Amino acid sequence: MHILHVVGARPNFMKAAPVMRSFRGRTGVQQTLVHTGQHYDVDMTDVFFRELDLPEPNVNLGIGSDTHAAQTAQVLSRLEPVVLEKRPDLVLVYGDVNSTFAAALTCAKLLIPVGHVEAGLRSFDRTMPEEINRLLTDQIADLLFTHSKDADENLRSEGVVGEKIHLVGNTMIDTLVALLPKALERWPIKPVPLASGAGEADVSLRLHQAIAGRFGLVTLHRPSNVDDVATLDSILNTLAKISRDIPIIFPVHPRTQKRLRESGWPERESGLVLVGPLGYLDFLALQRHATMVITDSGGIQEETTYLGVPCLTLRNNTERPVTTSSGTNILVGHDMEQLEREVERILAGEAKSGHAPSNWDGHAAERVADVTVRWWAGR
Ligand code: UD1
Repeated sequence: MHILHVVGARPNFMKAAPVMRSFRGRTGVQQTLVHTGQHYDVDMTDVFFRELDLPEPNVNLGIGSDTHAAQTAQVLSRLEPVVLEKRPDLVLVYGDVNSTFAAALTCAKLLIPVGHVEAGLRSFDRTMPEEINRLLTDQIADLLFTHSKDADENLRSEGVVGEKIHLVGNTMIDTLVALLPKALERWPIKPVPLASGAGEADVSLRLHQAIAGRFGLVTLHRPSNVDDVATLDSILNTLAKISRDIPIIFPVHPRTQKRLRESGWPERESGLVLVGPLGYLDFLALQRHATMVITDSGGIQEETTYLGVPCLTLRNNTERPVTTSSGTNILVGHDMEQLEREVERILAGEAKSGHAPSNWDGHAAERVADVTVRWWAGR
């Protein structure tokens, strides 16, 4: 059986790495890795390949950044000849980024079976580009690998037949379980501050002090939070206020860096310690040691739930409800007063406790391989 994996953006890499590894030990399985190039900066892609032990991609489509339509269209036109040449028996796609849906659509048109890892997640918010990617990918896929019961229910309610749905657990947590010891060995980490020139020494000192004690960790990249000046401004002002009570370390996604520059950064970031995007291991170590995480990411809601670290999510909804029902996650939306109140609660030692779903156990990728091999044998 020839399996072609398609990855494109940072959150795909930690989901795909354990799946590729789990197929390596299976006889008669050949694997090809295609990187669409949606993320292309060294610190958004290369460092992850190295740290996650992903093989060098066989093909890089080099699509880069563009509008959603252009990005999706470029994957379609550049992936098609690759798939026609490689003739895989199954294509595996991961998560919910533009590359995920574009790859699934390319293969569906060529009548090549598609498996979707992390299927069935729904925010029920169609203004999110990822929600459209999730809905459409799941309609196309032949094998739907889910990580929680609510995902199974979402798929069934959309009319997906039961035999396509496989509750395997969370392959991103497989990566976390495997690499947490290595990440902790790196503590204390030494990230590079973003500030340059006059402020650099001061930010370096604050960063060093933060890492030595209690700190909050922030990530922010959703268009709904960073593309609107007023929204970004109110979030930054609130974070600056919070940083008077606890140092805030903020690894900044390239999209957000661009917005901060446009809105007059660095003058307006007073009190926050901004660093560039971090590699997987450094970021995991930071999450593990953080007093709290404030984020709009999807994956970080799950990682903090697994680690038992309080998470405040700057979104009105989540496609990962298990992180709020059983995990440590609280949705604060854009209510900055609630954000401040929840931070106060955490600092007072009254953080929400939680636990991870039982099948987030480090073995989800093996179950993906088991299901796939059985599916292939039964065809
Ligand atoms: C994408 C995913 C999002 C995921 C996020 C993780 C979609 C619709 N969105 O959002 O679900 O949570 O990745 O990071 O697929 N840029 C660089 N260098 C890079 C990559 C991006 O500078 O290597 C900048 C460019 O200015 C680009 C912008 O970031 O225009 C946005 O990149 P893009 O891939 O379109 O979306 P993300 O915001 O990263």
